[in-house]
Amino acid sequence: MTDHLQVQHLLNFIDNSPSPWHAVNRIEAELAASSDAQMPVWQLLDETAKWILQPGGRYYVVRDDSSIVLFVPGQKSLVDTGFKMIGAHTDSPGLRIKPKAATCADGLLRLGVEIYGGPILATFTDRDLSLAGRISYKNDQGSVANTLIRFDNALMRLPNLAIHMNRGVNEDGLKLHKQIELPLIASTITEEQLPGPYFSSLIEQQSGIDAERILFWDLNVYDTQKGAFWGANNEFYADSQLDNLASCHAALVALQEASSLGSDSTLVCAFFDHEEIGSGSNRGADGSFLSDVLQRIAFATGIDREDYQRALARSFLISADMAHAYHPNFPNAYEPDHKAIVNQGPVIKVNASHRYSSESISEAMFADWCEQANVPYQKYSHRCDLPCGSTIGPIASAKLGIRAVDVGSPLWAMHSIRESAGVKDHGYMIKVMKTFFSSF
Ligand code: CO
Repeated sequence: MTDHLQVQHLLNFIDNSPSPWHAVNRIEAELAASSDAQMPVWQLLDETAKWILQPGGRYYVVRDDSSIVLFVPGQKSLVDTGFKMIGAHTDSPGLRIKPKAATCADGLLRLGVEIYGGPILATFTDRDLSLAGRISYKNDQGSVANTLIRFDNALMRLPNLAIHMNRGVNEDGLKLHKQIELPLIASTITEEQLPGPYFSSLIEQQSGIDAERILFWDLNVYDTQKGAFWGANNEFYADSQLDNLASCHAALVALQEASSLGSDSTLVCAFFDHEEIGSGSNRGADGSFLSDVLQRIAFATGIDREDYQRALARSFLISADMAHAYHPNFPNAYEPDHKAIVNQGPVIKVNASHRYSSESISEAMFADWCEQANVPYQKYSHRCDLPCGSTIGPIASAKLGIRAVDVGSPLWAMHSIRESAGVKDHGYMIKVMKTFFSSF
């Protein structure tokens, strides 16, 4: 597949993943659609059931709808191969609807939001926003169930303040008060209409579930604008949530392709929710999810506790998360000798304080896979006078005690609602991930 077709596939994936719950649902749909007659179908494993695994079988586990681990047990024993893993995250920073969100004043219905992670808030103004997520309700049997919900139309907006009331905006930047100035305008409303029931009726219409049965929700604010190519030669692309659905997509494609060739090693992809808020949850990288799944793979394939530890000692994790692309308008924001240039290949991220998991051996191993794949690579180090971000890499590597490297494709405008990146870089990342899965 050409790089442009791969990226078009990525943009379709993102446009169908307006929340982390939808992203996992979409991954499951991709797995179901990909099954060809030659290959075992992808099988969903229930954490409450006993697992029976076959070498070369294709399996996945979902925890709480928004984290997913996919794996293919290898033909050889784990003791000899270890786990070959790629980790990424399903969540993106943004706005989430509060439990009692709807308020009404001056004839307008507004929805209160909480901030999730560290979005660039100013980018949420003047966009065609909408809602997607999941709702929890009482079903016909009287038990609590979940379902996904998505509004397709531009349901809400955060209009900017006119420059005539904000004369300093171009000098001072757009500052939004997080409590007062973020509620989103969703409708006109009459005095007789109560805002709570009015909003519930919108949810009822969209979900088909009676409003009185709906108990709670997790609703993400998303941008309805679809992904697009841009540039004189369409060499760039833009969409929301590229951090980090682009890495999930690359790893998913690499796993599908590598596993269809058959593998001696056990291949794993782990896509976690909650990276943007520190990973500390039952389904985050700092929770038990990945190690629970790895242990169960080991024990279900007949190896004991000591052999599981031996397998971990042979394992490797690529932590894939987008990297900061050099922006020529802001040269002073970057370490001048470590610029990551768009369309010049995967970025190996290095940080002495271990905000990234990379160390010289794992960096060298990744560089070697790049060379084998005929893919260029770049080295990134953050400016010393700016605090460096982090990823799931150091967390998962520390929890499991395994070697890891932090890498990513260069990305402009990280945590904007509209990020952009290079078409070639996505193709490069898929290639090197495939080489990693097929190596040793
Ligand atoms: Co990220």
